[in-house]
Amino acid sequence: MSADLFTPLELRGTEIPNRVMVSPMCQYSCEDTDGLPTDWHHTHLASRAVGGAGLVMTEATAVEARGRITPHDLGIWSDAHADALDGITQSIRDQGSVPGIQLAHAGRKASKTRPWEGSEPIPADAEDGWETIAPSADPWPYQDGETATRAMTQDDIDDVIDAFVAAAERARDAGFQVAELHAAHGYLLHEFLSPVTNGRSDDYGGDFEGRTRLLRDVATAVRDVWPEDDPLFVRISATDWLPDRESWTVDDSVRLADRLAPLGVDLIDVSAGGIHPDQQIPSTGPGYQERYARRVRQESAESIAVGTVGGITTAEQADALVRNGRGDLAIVGREHLRDPYFALHAARKLDRMDAEGIEVPVQYDRAF
Ligand code: FNR
Repeated sequence: MSADLFTPLELRGTEIPNRVMVSPMCQYSCEDTDGLPTDWHHTHLASRAVGGAGLVMTEATAVEARGRITPHDLGIWSDAHADALDGITQSIRDQGSVPGIQLAHAGRKASKTRPWEGSEPIPADAEDGWETIAPSADPWPYQDGETATRAMTQDDIDDVIDAFVAAAERARDAGFQVAELHAAHGYLLHEFLSPVTNGRSDDYGGDFEGRTRLLRDVATAVRDVWPEDDPLFVRISATDWLPDRESWTVDDSVRLADRLAPLGVDLIDVSAGGIHPDQQIPSTGPGYQERYARRVRQESAESIAVGTVGGITTAEQADALVRNGRGDLAIVGREHLRDPYFALHAARKLDRMDAEGIEVPVQYDRAF
């Protein structure tokens, strides 16, 4: 029998009770700009676990302070962060969901104001700003102003790898069961992958081998400290959506998946874009990135698991993509902001309230 949305997904020694994942979504809600989670993070993430999602992924969580997009981003660069996240993972587990953490570094897209403050660059010498780092010294081309960007030295590269490893160790100790490396949307690891942003001539630039080296180094080092039974995901932008210039393509993504699988990466979370404002997005309709996920799943020789994200808003759509083999995991972002109970509602719609792990909290029994 083929899998459906409510068939558990086994990855290594971990069972994700259903195929609905809460997509990582920044909340920009650390009020003290210290990277520590607040009641908002706890409520936001635990609610989606109450809502039945099999895997609840945190927002991009910065592995070092200069890797935050805004001063209000979540971080995991000290033991105090891990201690504060511990209660959140416990609440997610108490609901039968698997807690995941997206480990991130924003690279040249760091040091900005929050979206509701205009996403403006904060200059390095301003009170809340800092100098950003990237493979090359080209800043993100904002319309007004820019955030100074420094090309990373070998020491910076070593520091970033160490920061990902330390973050993974802390995430493990805080009770997360899935770690996802954020290598998409024009942030640091993606900036190394793409020829649009990587102009280096050392071992970390140039051809495919060089440009993928940092991500492969980080994946290898994180896998070393990440528990054997716990899955490691990588989120990629399958394409830069820049067809008119030398850029990262879906073919590159298929090739990358084949390089990551032997390093112990268990699932590729397939997104797209974000490297440059000139990108041409062909569509933002239902399942607009599904075709890239399908290609990575079908064309990679390693037949690595893939997650599909982008424009998934209905139970039927999510179920069909699993049933038709277009993805192993339906990753749902904005629909989870509209409906924290997306998975429970989907189970009811698809007549799968009997599925293992789908449990309406007794407190809510009279409503479902
Ligand atoms: C996002 N997205 C995102 N992606 C990511 O990899 N890390 C992140 O922290 C964030 N933050 C974020 C915040 C908010 C408010 C939104 C709406 C989006 C992208 C998100 O995970 C997802 O890939 C896209 O929203 C597309 O999926 P949906 O929303 O169409 O299901």
